Amino acid sequence: MISSLVYVSLRTPICTDAEIDKIVLSCKKNNVGLDITGVLLHSNTHFVQYIEGENKQIMGLYDRIKTDPRHKNVVLINLNMIESRLFPSWQMGVKAVNTDNVTFLTEISESEKLVFKDILDGKTLEGNKASELIKKFFK
Ligand SMILES: Cc1cc2nc3c(=O)[nH]c(=O)nc-3n(C[C@H](O)[C@H](O)[C@H](O)COP(=O)(O)O)c2cc1C
Repeated sequence: MISSLVYVSLRTPICTDAEIDKIVLSCKKNNVGLDITGVLLHSNTHFVQYIEGENKQIMGLYDRIKTDPRHKNVVLINLNMIESRLFPSWQMGVKAVNTDNVTFLTEISESEKLVFKDILDGKTLEGNKASELIKKFFK
């Protein structure tokens, strides 16, 4: 059985775009070996990350990520046992989003858009909803 985990956090001022590039490199370097896949959304102010893999590896990575000074106020919004992966071929899909103007690759309703914006703004902690929307966002 594998687990999926979603958290939101606040990007700190030291986290420049160059630092985001370094985070992406870390993901590429480490996640394959850990057999972890997922997606990372970032705006000027926030991160939303969805990771999936063996529970032990997921918790280990989350513990490491939580202490990273490039973000703060890390809030776990969803931790689930899942039967199959949402992003089996993505070591880490990375996407920049503008929280004021989120565009979706697939159709989602106006109410879902509002929920998504709230999640990015850290306003609501609807975990399952967050995973569903993140999936729609990338597929
Ligand atoms: C928002 C955010 C997401 C991150 N996601 C990952 C990740 O998925 N995998 C990873 O190895 N490191 C991730 N990191 C970086 C880790 O906190 C840590 O710096 C890195 O794993 C250290 O490993 P390295 O020295 O091999 O690069 C993330 C950091 C931040 C701020």
